[in-house]
Amino acid sequence: MKSYNQKKRILNSESVTALMAAIHRFIATKERGFVGPDQLARMFLPPKAKFFLSFAFFRKVFKNKLHKMVPGTYEYVTARTKFFDQLFVQAVTENVPQIVFLGAGYDTRALRFQDTIKETRIFELDVPTTQNNKLKLLKKNGIAIPANLSFAPVNFDTDDLGQALLNAGYDPHLMTLFMWEGVTMYITEEAVNETLSFIKNNSGAGSTVVFDYLYQSVILYQSVILGQCDYYGARQLAESAKDKEEPFSFGIEEGQIKEFLLERGFSLLKHYTPQEFEKKYLVNKNGNFLGKMYGFACHTYAEAQDI
Ligand SMILES: C[S@@+](CC[C@H](N)C(=O)[O-])C[C@H]1O[C@@H](n2cnc3c(N)ncnc32)[C@H](O)[C@@H]1O
Repeated sequence: MKSYNQKKRILNSESVTALMAAIHRFIATKERGFVGPDQLARMFLPPKAKFFLSFAFFRKVFKNKLHKMVPGTYEYVTARTKFFDQLFVQAVTENVPQIVFLGAGYDTRALRFQDTIKETRIFELDVPTTQNNKLKLLKKNGIAIPANLSFAPVNFDTDDLGQALLNAGYDPHLMTLFMWEGVTMYITEEAVNETLSFIKNNSGAGSTVVFDYLYQSVILYQSVILGQCDYYGARQLAESAKDKEEPFSFGIEEGQIKEFLLERGFSLLKHYTPQEFEKKYLVNKNGNFLGKMYGFACHTYAEAQDI
């Protein structure tokens, strides 16, 4: 896999986007009514963020700032966590033999759901900078690494994904769930295609992949400000992209997901447009709507077809 976009920066320091995702999940644990799902996210925050974000006032300031920058970001990330949590729990309950996190960042599912996991082996892949920082913080916080969890340092740009997984003990003949959360939008089409091709050709029957993606027109609009783009948050995203170190680079056009997957040897199991996702994951126990997410981010779950 050759061309991830964030390149140089994530080779020298930990991923900022991974940290931002952890900050969102930490804030969500504090929200009444949201039922924040990640009680371990706090340990990954830098000391200043840990201090200030422990106050409701500063959490509000932070969320307002995010909302001004690109409305729907917080809602998108937190709803996404719930969806991925659900699929993870379902897989470990069914004792799916392997789960691979591609670009794991500060994911804590292997720890949070330890009691539900039976024999599933879990692999976390990320660049060494982010992965080493995660391991350091887990150790510092006295969190033991469960025996079923392996870390595979890999730079998707330059390293062989298959080799990294094999070195970590991955078995290409077993059914596997690949979780690709918050990553496709940062990489090139070539990298997306190569990852899907790897999954299709190197995993057992019934293997699946779950990922989120953005609409391609938003990516084009963001990079060259092409024409009109009326999705919720798209204009602000384009404006903020100018200063971004990790701009979005890959998308799939609205309505094209089924064909996109079929062409790459996958069949669609589940798909949510932003509107469908909001109805399912941004509603609290009392049925109250918790807020609008990006109007251009979708979630999909697909199965690799037998060769
Ligand atoms: C937005 S973060 C998502 C992290 C995590 N999946 C989550 O949802 O919290 C993107 C992740 O992809 C990883 N990543 C980006 N480019 C990479 C590369 N070339 N090789 C390996 N990992 C990469 C980053 O280090 C980061 O952890």
